[in-house]
Amino acid sequence: MTRRRDGIGPDLAGKRLLVTGGGTGIGAATARLAAAEGMRVLVTGRRAEPLDRVVASIREAGGAAASFVGDVAAEGAGEAMLAAMHDAFGGVDAVFANAGYGIETPGMELAMPELRRIFEVNLFAAVDLIRSAGRVMGDAGGAGHLLGCSSILGKFTLPEYGAYSATKAALTHVCRAMRTELRGSGIAVSTVHPVTTRTEFFEVAARASAGDKGGAADPARLRPDGTPRHAPRAFIQSPERVGRAVVRCLRRPRAEVWTTVSGRLAAGVFELVPPIYELMLRSQVHGPGSR
Ligand SMILES: NC(=O)c1ccc[n+]([C@@H]2O[C@H](COP(=O)([O-])OP(=O)(O)OC[C@H]3O[C@@H](n4cnc5c(N)ncnc54)[C@H](OP(=O)(O)O)[C@@H]3O)[C@@H](O)[C@H]2O)c1
Repeated sequence: MTRRRDGIGPDLAGKRLLVTGGGTGIGAATARLAAAEGMRVLVTGRRAEPLDRVVASIREAGGAAASFVGDVAAEGAGEAMLAAMHDAFGGVDAVFANAGYGIETPGMELAMPELRRIFEVNLFAAVDLIRSAGRVMGDAGGAGHLLGCSSILGKFTLPEYGAYSATKAALTHVCRAMRTELRGSGIAVSTVHPVTTRTEFFEVAARASAGDKGGAADPARLRPDGTPRHAPRAFIQSPERVGRAVVRCLRRPRAEVWTTVSGRLAAGVFELVPPIYELMLRSQVHGPGSR
């Protein structure tokens, strides 16, 4: 079988990108930056207002954009988003399965419905969309790019982030396997590994964890920019930084998108030298009620 170059090629103009969670944060930044490169973009999310703002800003800048309102974890959501892509732009060239959220809850206190829900949104919905889009791309001739939004916490975890990290690690592995399975088919598969990024993420995590003893609902745990006080400032970045890296990856596919060398190094060192990781973890635990 002849192997092809995987991905959509360096010229993004006119290519069609679906971004879940495209109304805010990393998804919105990626949508705007991709549209500035000439991509036609469909953004999705549960709230119409942020999606409308992103669509309006892209159109005002002369780009092409549309939106789809819905929960990624709803039955048939993957197919429905791809149908919306077809209606808006006649097909799909790339998908960024970016919608997701965090919870900051000690493992012993996490209720099973919460654990199931975060896997439904962060993992199952992302995998369902990626696979459905891969089939559509295959049927259309085989060129495409599938990206899943993982995290630096897909490589290691922190106290209270066990469930979140598990969803991101699982997504990383599924995408990693699919990348090899699809190599040479024309369809590239990548994962994106942001470090702490200034978005709604930590406020949403605080709300999702509210009611848990010692959870992140305490606003004193967040800086005025919405990032957690425990995150080293050197690791904090803008959503545009992630968006630019995703656009570079669309042009020139790579297995994993990282936006800081230090984050990648930390992940590597923690994996290679477990005692260093354990030391770092201990420094994150200051006693009951302190987090
Ligand atoms: N911020 C960070 O430090 C960081 C670090 C590593 C990885 N990440 C990952 O980056 C991705 C984007 O997060 P962000 O930082 O940009 O935070 P964000 O601004 O909260 O973005 C999350 C987006 O996902 C959408 N979403 C959440 N649940 C959804 C659902 N069930 N159905 C449909 N859409 C849903 C939200 O829109 P609606 O609420 O309108 O549905 C929102 O637009 C996430 O996967 C997150 O895990 C973030």
